[in-house]
Amino acid sequence: MQQRTVYCGEVTASDIGKRIILDGWVQRRRDHGGLIFIDLRDRTGVVQTVIDPQSSPDAHVIAETVRSEYVLEIIGEVRKRPAGTENANLATGAVEVAVSGIEVLNTAKTPPFAIADDISVDETVRLTYRYLDLRRPEMQRRMFLRHRVVKLIRDFMDGRGFVEVETPILIKSTPEGARDYLVPCRVYPGTFYALPQSPQQLKQLLMVAGFEKYFQIAKCFRDEESRADRQPEFTQLDLEMSFVKQEDVFALMDDLHAEIIEKLSEKRLKFPKPFPRFAYNEVIERFGIDKPDLRFGMELFDITDIAAEAEFQVFRNTWESGGRIKGIAIPGCAGYSRTEIDDLTHFAKTFGAKGLVTVAVTEEGPKSSIAKFLTEGQITAILERAGAKTGDLLAIVADAPAVVANVLGRMRADMGKRLGLADKNEVAFCWVVDFPLVEWKEEEKRWDAMHHPFTSPHEDDIQYLETDPGRVRAWCYDMVCNGFELGSGSIRIHRRDIQQKVFELMSYNEEDAQARFGHMLEAFEFGAPPHGGFATGLDRTVTLLTDDESIREVIAFPKAASGYDPMTKAPSPVDAAQLEELHIAVQLDEDVEE
Ligand code: AMO
Repeated sequence: MQQRTVYCGEVTASDIGKRIILDGWVQRRRDHGGLIFIDLRDRTGVVQTVIDPQSSPDAHVIAETVRSEYVLEIIGEVRKRPAGTENANLATGAVEVAVSGIEVLNTAKTPPFAIADDISVDETVRLTYRYLDLRRPEMQRRMFLRHRVVKLIRDFMDGRGFVEVETPILIKSTPEGARDYLVPCRVYPGTFYALPQSPQQLKQLLMVAGFEKYFQIAKCFRDEESRADRQPEFTQLDLEMSFVKQEDVFALMDDLHAEIIEKLSEKRLKFPKPFPRFAYNEVIERFGIDKPDLRFGMELFDITDIAAEAEFQVFRNTWESGGRIKGIAIPGCAGYSRTEIDDLTHFAKTFGAKGLVTVAVTEEGPKSSIAKFLTEGQITAILERAGAKTGDLLAIVADAPAVVANVLGRMRADMGKRLGLADKNEVAFCWVVDFPLVEWKEEEKRWDAMHHPFTSPHEDDIQYLETDPGRVRAWCYDMVCNGFELGSGSIRIHRRDIQQKVFELMSYNEEDAQARFGHMLEAFEFGAPPHGGFATGLDRTVTLLTDDESIREVIAFPKAASGYDPMTKAPSPVDAAQLEELHIAVQLDEDVEE
């Protein structure tokens, strides 16, 4: 092998007449009887090479044996392509390389799928041969973009005075609401490390340590089902700051995300900085969910007062039992067939509704199965409240407020997607603030943190911690973008007495709290500064730029469903000797049943 002189995708007309050396993979070989054409590919692109049996008989003999994905070194001279054979779709399409020598650096089996963009292959096959999948240009573009996002973040954070500190992977459990991955410890039999669900406690301890501005591109581990936007192992931009209010976090993140969009994508920001803020209660009221896609309207309308007067028993009962009657106006769906309406009703029922009332706003006027229970005045009032236009289909749910919000919020998101209401070129960032501090866990009969137990309550609401916990607002915020949660954070508790109170509220008794978080409580006694922070899902940020459906597309080696890696076949059983060393005996369910 010699020294490569130029990358395949970077051979241009300015190289005409030059002798070059290329290294790469065979994209395609075409044998035209006499001439053989080899398209050679490396990470920059493809260039056409031509092997003439007359001028290069030795190279021609080798070229005859070459197959797709063979690794070659090609020596030749760049020349202009004959008129009429240029390829405008290729960056190097004006030139070709007249080959004088070929060295086969390695052969290759026929790959299980084409090394090309837009292939239609089962994802498990792609993941099994991820190294081949990653060889495809579109995957390389994704990885290069991810690299640029991380580089931009690092430069940006550095420019703002943040220091990147690595935190350990073997730690004590940090609760973020998921299950921990546990790692058995050989040295202390029967004990376990937990993999961090996030560096939450450690970054707070860095604030106690006086670092003031920390960030990290951090690996996080959560034993939860892999989904389109979730992986058991994922990456966060994690940060923490001292002596700040939430406004400081917002301003920093607004600047960073505006810069990412402006520098690394062709997309437009829907809202200029500062990105809009909505109270949690307001987004639930208007959009049904706490991560609304603000690229389109279709806001929820409330007709509880009008419906309460109607003869329709379902509406009345709902009103009498303190429920709400709300709906959305779905544009262009007034002509829905019976089956389509049934599908919509089924959707509503899946998320807890007892049923769905629809009103089709047609050219001939409104049509509804419940029209006979409504006066003309009530129908007019409903259409007015809905801001309905001809062609709209009103979908109305009557139920407990939480059910109404959940069903309509999901329906709005789903229909928005199906009808293509969102402009793909827009990015709509917003902040959701004033979340409740705690939520009631019915199964466990206890209050639990809505974010995590280190989140600070609003000072004005501390008085309700014991009497009316559900009313306590938290200094907690989410950054939402195009219908998903991009990041989340909070101003933290920095005083031991308040932290202790919050632990108590969440039913950690003193012993529990001491065993799990004694180090935090103790640290707070050594001059912990007021502090707060934030973490975004880096995989989600990159997907936002690539428009991919799943974050798996922007992770080099993601897990398939249930955390399985079809390439390495992890997780897998281990040797008996390894288990013995760890003092672990494995008892599978089948054994228990036997
Ligand atoms: P949170 O748990 O909300 O907060 O996580 C922050 C962000 O991380 C991303 N994320 C995920 N991405 C991919 N797969 C997952 N399984 C996954 N889980 C979370 C999301 C989410 O918004 N320590 C706090 C942050 C803080 O308070 O500073 C935390 O981890 O984009």
